[in-house]
Amino acid sequence: MAALRRTFHMRRLLAGTRRTFAGSLAGSCLSDRCLWDQLHARPRLGSVPTFDWFFGYEEVQGLLLPLLQEARAASPLRVLDVGCGTSSLCIGLYTKSPHPVDVLGVDFSPVAVAHMNNLLEGGQSQTRLSPGHPASHLHFIQADAQNLGPVASSDSFQLLLDKGTWDAVARGGLPGAYQLLSECLRVLSPQGTLIQFSDEDPDVRLPCLEQGSQGWTVTVQELGPFRGITYFAYLVQGSH
Ligand SMILES: C[S@@+](CC[C@H](N)C(=O)[O-])C[C@H]1O[C@@H](n2cnc3c(N)ncnc32)[C@H](O)[C@@H]1O
Repeated sequence: MAALRRTFHMRRLLAGTRRTFAGSLAGSCLSDRCLWDQLHARPRLGSVPTFDWFFGYEEVQGLLLPLLQEARAASPLRVLDVGCGTSSLCIGLYTKSPHPVDVLGVDFSPVAVAHMNNLLEGGQSQTRLSPGHPASHLHFIQADAQNLGPVASSDSFQLLLDKGTWDAVARGGLPGAYQLLSECLRVLSPQGTLIQFSDEDPDVRLPCLEQGSQGWTVTVQELGPFRGITYFAYLVQGSH
């Protein structure tokens, strides 16, 4: 059932893309960087400058802000969004968190990273985005989330976010997804929290996370439904 729903969801998401690229995605894989460069380069409809898979910042701020509040020992709190794409998550945290946050968004697509850096500088208005707290920072860097060595040292982030990135990487095979998880846990502080947002059912995702995060505690919370789809927040946490 979960696999069926996931397939339909992916099909629906790719339907618009297929129309845009006139069938050029046949046989393409969501773990392929060139495909993502094409998807991120699509013209945006309307005036919203971000594009979110699943849902945006507003839908999960009620989950994220209390976590930031809890982890205030580190100030500013370091947050990493792996596979940030052109989502509103990093920008929402930077502009709306009342707690100081140092947010880094990484994506292997240079197109996505250029788009986000342009937004940070204010896009066409040229007015740089304002932080929700004067000590907050936001950066976007091109990096492979399966090899974060060049951009992140071990135990250096208190909050890791993955919205749809495991889902995309797993399309290329589970070993890649486990490598992504292992890198996330390497850079996460032992008291920190990794959240994977996904529509994948717990009966599929939980055994994978439990296998790949031994020594960490894995829990799941149901989110939504948003636009008729139920999502999940998978939390991988160290000792609190
Ligand atoms: C399903 S999209 C989600 C994007 C964004 N997190 C959101 O919620 O809208 C998956 C993202 O992961 C990125 N991605 C896939 N594999 C990656 C990798 N190995 N390293 C870094 N980014 C990757 C893609 O470029 C894409 O932006």
